[in-house]
Amino acid sequence: MRDLFDPVTVGAWTLANRIVMAPMTRNRASAAGVPRDITALYYRQRATAGLIVTEGVQPSAAGQGYPNTPGLHTPEQIEGWRAVADAVHAEGGRIVAQIMHTGRIAHPANKDGNETVAPSAVAAPGTIHTAEGARPYPIPRALGTAEVAAVAEEYAGAARAAVAAGLDGVELHAANGYLPHQFLAPSTNLRDDVYGGSAAARARFVIEVTEATAAAIGGERVGIRLSPGANLHGAIEDDPAGTAATYRALLDGIAPLGLAYLHTIGDPEEPLLRELRRRFDGPVVVNDGWYPMTDEHTARRRVASGQADLVAVGRAFIAQPDLVRRWRDHAPVAEPDPATFYGGGALGYTEHPARSE
Ligand SMILES: Cc1cc2nc3c(=O)[nH]c(=O)nc-3n(C[C@H](O)[C@H](O)[C@H](O)COP(=O)(O)O)c2cc1C
Repeated sequence: MRDLFDPVTVGAWTLANRIVMAPMTRNRASAAGVPRDITALYYRQRATAGLIVTEGVQPSAAGQGYPNTPGLHTPEQIEGWRAVADAVHAEGGRIVAQIMHTGRIAHPANKDGNETVAPSAVAAPGTIHTAEGARPYPIPRALGTAEVAAVAEEYAGAARAAVAAGLDGVELHAANGYLPHQFLAPSTNLRDDVYGGSAAARARFVIEVTEATAAAIGGERVGIRLSPGANLHGAIEDDPAGTAATYRALLDGIAPLGLAYLHTIGDPEEPLLRELRRRFDGPVVVNDGWYPMTDEHTARRRVASGQADLVAVGRAFIAQPDLVRRWRDHAPVAEPDPATFYGGGALGYTEHPARSE
């Protein structure tokens, strides 16, 4: 039987175990999107994960959604990531950058006034956090057909920058209602050009992003994260047949690229996720989603049952940097504190209240 603590080969990497640190936005970069020293320490502390997926990283100024998120599009940002990569590698770990263009889930106040773009000029429901408080989401500018290829190239550029910084590769964030998912979901993609109107057309942008990124750094260094039917941030996929057709087209489109891994969010026992795993010729990373929080029992069971090759663990990794050792030894684990998730300093990031063993 496979075990969570067994080594595994994923794309270009041999990983010490099957625990992946899930991507988590922590809003502690400088105003210029540069990771700080404290971020190198944060990831270094968690380097016993088989693989770390960083917080979402914007591939361009326009791709930023939230305050103080890091980027991979300026020389200073690349230098910042070099320190992170070196710190993790010094501990024997592996780390890939999650490339996250948030599309319409953004506000100019969070990105120096830069404009917000999306597949269609439809504002997301609700409000977004800014330094001046909660603000309604703006109506994004719909990307022109010819512009879309340039945005796909931004991902390739960020992937080259990641490798130049010494990171081990990238994960493409095509989940949770951000830009790629806005192309996939019918509620956010009202286009009638080659990027909208049918399942195959809605999948096209994500396929082109993946092709451009794989061409830039090699498919064996690229993973992709999907959350079909997550219905987050107003990216609604409520027609099961249409959703299945879209994600089938997507997986068929990326099949020739030899990606390192597929990363799914959602109950892995759901029929569509089972089907996507069967369709993907490579290792699959599973994350059950927000509720309940991933625990040791679920993580072990997903791998032992064959539902996952690896398991991505989010909040438990915030609360304990030495999560791998704790779970291996069945040691007690602490609860994370949501008040320190998004922004702040060392507390809840690199410093944790003392606890007895
Ligand atoms: C503070 C925080 C920030 C997150 N940021 C991201 C992100 O940048 N990209 C992403 O794909 N998922 C993000 N997520 C979702 C996690 O990767 C994961 O799917 C979620 O936490 C559920 O897993 P868990 O139960 O192990 O925490 C975030 C979650 C948390 C708690």
